[in-house]
Amino acid sequence: MVGAGFVGSTLTQRLAERDYADMVMYDIVPNMPQGKALDMLQAGPVLGYDSLVIGTNDYSETANSDVVVITSGFPRKPGMTRDDLLKKNQEIITQVTQQVVKYSPKCIMIMVTNPLDAMAQLAWHVSGFPRERVIGMAGVLDTARLRTFIAQELHVSVRDVQTCVLGGHGDTMIPLPRMCTIAGVPIAQLLSAERIEQIVQRTRDGGAEIVKLLGTGSAYYAPSASVLQMVDAILLDKRMMMPCAVYLQGEYNIKNLFVGVPVLLGAKGLEQIIEIKLSEDEQILLQKSADAVRELVNVMGI
Ligand code: LAC
Repeated sequence: MVGAGFVGSTLTQRLAERDYADMVMYDIVPNMPQGKALDMLQAGPVLGYDSLVIGTNDYSETANSDVVVITSGFPRKPGMTRDDLLKKNQEIITQVTQQVVKYSPKCIMIMVTNPLDAMAQLAWHVSGFPRERVIGMAGVLDTARLRTFIAQELHVSVRDVQTCVLGGHGDTMIPLPRMCTIAGVPIAQLLSAERIEQIVQRTRDGGAEIVKLLGTGSAYYAPSASVLQMVDAILLDKRMMMPCAVYLQGEYNIKNLFVGVPVLLGAKGLEQIIEIKLSEDEQILLQKSADAVRELVNVMGI
């Protein structure tokens, strides 16, 4: 875990409880990751895990990691868009990626830092890794938000709600309500189009809603849970299908750009991109979302 802030440390604790991997938490703040790691180790006897957790300010201790999750960077402040963060985080992610590649040249990188799709593209660009090994986390989180709101609305178990969200992580994300079912029943049969649209809009604004409530910082419980699902799929070779930001090379008519689409995750990282047939309107929205990501990539000059 690069970055031992709220997302990085919550993820580490969640993973420790899975009890199948050892972890290193890196942060530039002196002593802080060491303190958090020690605290997590001491929860092991009570919760019953043997996962080793190391905190460090030295990248060499992360050497030969199988998976590296990057959460470093500035979070959003109230009123700030994810894109405002671009330049600030470009510098950080460039340096971080260079260190990660130096010490763990075979790792699979999961990007969490915002603006998500652009930072994933930056890490891919700086790393020189094949696209299978650089994946951005956003779709799982956006999907989880949509599932939560639909479950609340219909008063059903979140487990029964299945959805799909495409596009960049931001205001242009594209929840696909027509793919949303409650245990196989399309939600269009259970909710009005107007209500669905309101829920979709709340999903788009899901991150900002939490930023506003928190005052400082942004969401971390659902983001860390979302990364956990991706790490599980990779380290346990599950071939689970979920929306992730990956480097498209012509899929969905998008070329040389990170955008969120449904993929299979397994031991190789990105195992397969799933191309679903989109309606004309959906394809236009996806193109718009890709254009927004492309704009950021151009600003970064990569
Ligand atoms: C969110 C921020 C982290 O969606 O992008 O919560």
